[in-house]
Amino acid sequence: MVGASFGSVYVGRDLPLLRACRRETTSFTPVWLMRQAGRYLPEYRAVRDRFTFLDLCKTPEAAAEVTLQPVELLGVDAAILFADILLPLEPLGLGLSFGPGEGPRIERPLRTAADVAALPVVDCADALSFVLETIRIVRRELGDRTPLIGFAGAPFTLASYAIEGGGSRDYRQTKRLLLGEPETWHALMTRFVDLTASYLEAQIMAGAEAVQLFDSWVGHLAPIDYRQSVLPHMQTLLARLARSGVPVIHFATGTSGLLEDMAAAGGDVISVDWRIDLRTAWQRIGSSRAIQGNLDPLVLAAPAHVIRERVRELLAQAEGRPGHIANLGHGLLPEIPVDGVRCFVDAVHELSAR
Ligand code: CP3
Repeated sequence: MVGASFGSVYVGRDLPLLRACRRETTSFTPVWLMRQAGRYLPEYRAVRDRFTFLDLCKTPEAAAEVTLQPVELLGVDAAILFADILLPLEPLGLGLSFGPGEGPRIERPLRTAADVAALPVVDCADALSFVLETIRIVRRELGDRTPLIGFAGAPFTLASYAIEGGGSRDYRQTKRLLLGEPETWHALMTRFVDLTASYLEAQIMAGAEAVQLFDSWVGHLAPIDYRQSVLPHMQTLLARLARSGVPVIHFATGTSGLLEDMAAAGGDVISVDWRIDLRTAWQRIGSSRAIQGNLDPLVLAAPAHVIRERVRELLAQAEGRPGHIANLGHGLLPEIPVDGVRCFVDAVHELSAR
């Protein structure tokens, strides 16, 4: 078996990214990028041309191929599974599609207590078995070199898509439910905690060596709403995942108002974006956690000397302390030049070498 085995004490491999998750020393700062397999890469576009986005996710050989591309082409220190946080919405019967050039669309959004009560009980390990097969292929191909990160949407962010029916500017329907129908909201969160935990446990059993929870849009909440409506559920989820022994990266954006609460929710690594200095964020999160981030993705579209300067500043803020994983504050955008991405990865490796 490649994955962790629950019940025994699991200690991950001795690779820089996994060591940094555990706040152990490394001979350089490990680096990877959110959306590192994506449209900015010509090699990704060549594979993507043969499939729709959803079919690419559902074809393990092809999904594994694009997962491996950034490792081979850029020398990043982790692979991240090629999939999408919204995949579980399909077996839940909500109707998921990605139109050409648009964001995701959910045909039958959840709006009422009856909608939530009618959700089927779904075994993601079975319904999304193609994801687990992708993980097994990637682990085989990566061998000893590089760890693989699995992921899922966090319950709030997954719920926001399920409720809004797609992306949103103001999360109006989500906040209507959360503020106006707390019982329905908590019932939905409870369902999504269970679904997310078992989905990630299945990914870990298949070979994911760290997992990232994407709570991308939770920074839209007031601290009081985070504490009342999200934090208890995240605590349950993160406490359950901690039992796997695999490091958990807790990611969100726009969280300057929520950092202490986010850290209280849990996670071995807290991922922060560029709207806050890394140094300040780490002080507020506390030294018992690792930190991931946090360049503005658009820095990578700037001239090479600017990228290097920002990397130098980022590393200075991390002060060489164990437990920094260099990354962007959010995903790479399709228009970022590959040379800028390469410059970022090389600069982190070169300027952090100890
Ligand atoms: O990071 C990686 O390289 C791994 C793969 C990955 C994808 N989506 C592939 C993808 C991961 C980790 C995700 C997570 C995801 N998906 C999130 C959380 C991260 C974040 O950005 O906050 C969210 C909110 C989604 C939902 C989603 N999927 C949106 C909003 C979109 C449309 C935006 C866009 O760029 O088109 C997607 C589609 C998507 N997911 C693409 C990729 C590579 C683009 C699809 C394509 O190739 O056309």
